[in-house]
Amino acid sequence: MKNIDPCALVIFGAAGNLSQRKLIPALLQLEKLGRFPDSLTLLGLSLEERSREEWHAWIRKIIPDQNGPIMDRFMARWHYQRIDPTNPDSYAHLRDKLSDSAIFPSNQIFYMAVRPADYPGIVDQMGQQGLLKESTGWRRVVIEKPFGYDLSSAEILQASLYRHLQEHQIYRIDHYLGKGTVQNVLVFRFANVLLEPLWNHNYIDYVQITQSETMGIEGRADYYEGAGALRDMIQSHLLQVLTLVAMEPPVSLDAEHLRDEKVKVLQSIRPIPQNAVHAHAFRGQYASGTIDGHPVTGYREESGVASDSTTETYAALKLFIDNWRWSGVPFYLRTGKRLAENSSAVYIRFKNPPQDLLRGVRQGPTQPNWIMLGIQPDECLRVELQVRMPGLQLQTRTLSLDATYRQGNESDFSAYEELLLDAIAGDHSLFLRIDEVEAAWRVVDPILKVWATERDFIQTYPAGTWGPRGTYRLFSHEDQFWRHGLDPSGAQLQPY
Ligand code: BG6
Repeated sequence: MKNIDPCALVIFGAAGNLSQRKLIPALLQLEKLGRFPDSLTLLGLSLEERSREEWHAWIRKIIPDQNGPIMDRFMARWHYQRIDPTNPDSYAHLRDKLSDSAIFPSNQIFYMAVRPADYPGIVDQMGQQGLLKESTGWRRVVIEKPFGYDLSSAEILQASLYRHLQEHQIYRIDHYLGKGTVQNVLVFRFANVLLEPLWNHNYIDYVQITQSETMGIEGRADYYEGAGALRDMIQSHLLQVLTLVAMEPPVSLDAEHLRDEKVKVLQSIRPIPQNAVHAHAFRGQYASGTIDGHPVTGYREESGVASDSTTETYAALKLFIDNWRWSGVPFYLRTGKRLAENSSAVYIRFKNPPQDLLRGVRQGPTQPNWIMLGIQPDECLRVELQVRMPGLQLQTRTLSLDATYRQGNESDFSAYEELLLDAIAGDHSLFLRIDEVEAAWRVVDPILKVWATERDFIQTYPAGTWGPRGTYRLFSHEDQFWRHGLDPSGAQLQPY
């Protein structure tokens, strides 16, 4: 178990969406698991004036039906203060409040559950009030993605943080790294010797990483219009998954060793020249359509979205990792909103056997092996092999070996439980180092630049389908395709 010092966790934006949906429920879960020392204190900060009792009532409202001694202990940890993020006096009050050592331990962690544009201002104000000085205890700041909106803005943001913080104080979250199934990629690769000899360009034909959602933008036009799918999902979550699939074995699971290897992968991704962007990247935007039998509006009709918006809600990329292991193996990354299914998975297709002994007896084309790592909602590991069918004739079919991630009624946690606990315990392993963030921006920056100049047209796709037609032009060979789903039927070229 991780050792946790007495500390105060201070949440900026405590009444906001992220805090309501993810942070407060995750903190309660950690309380239920008995992972907090008695001395841990929680302080919610937000714009509204509220008494401590009103804050408690608000929390009870967002987590209904939770009573008893555990909930009472959880509530007793909570304090509240109104903050105006732009007003220096607010930070002076915050400093006074936190200086009450009878309530707030001197180790303090500040979680930025606010708009990314507010990070530099808040950190600057805290810095000016001396709130980030580690003279009496440690001080940490947790920053949500997106870290900047391109490489140069990420560098500017970083420079503004470095005015008051050192790297060891900064925890950049990518919540995909907190998912048990994403961490399972590492365990699967490095706790089993079976795969290592196959895990390279000699045997792997291509790798596909897909994250598809049936959800639209859920009222987040304010953020999404300026972000788009490439920044929202690929620059962060999908490139992180790619690093885990492709990295070399680290020296240890120590944070720096792990991150050293992930950075090397990102730095080895072949830069996409601007004149090759269309051969490597595809974007689209959802039009109206049907999801689960219900009609849904198109992106441009969503509230807060410009009627001529060309923001992409779908993005697909082809990347190459120029190192010995992956030379020539395409990595196809795809994400989209309002697609046909909710599903995130890594699909690894192997090459065909060097000699096709069964060509005379098999019906249809060769079926190569696949290894699939389901991230959600199917949390599993699946391997597809060819076997003989019973009968008098030599015929083959696909057998799927399925190892589910959870057994019996084992429960797993949302990514935030682990990430919160790690930040409180001072473990950086699942947080991004600045060179990782910068290297990821370097991968997508050329695409962002070209797309930014092509603002008069974007392909659309009907909501509830697998995305825009035409993404097939990304594939290096005719027999490569997007696999939709983990069932053997997904291993066929799919019509839209
Ligand atoms: C967030 C994105 O980081 O990840 C959202 O901003 C996206 O747009 C979400 O829906 C997906 O996360 P998960 O855990 O539901 O796959």
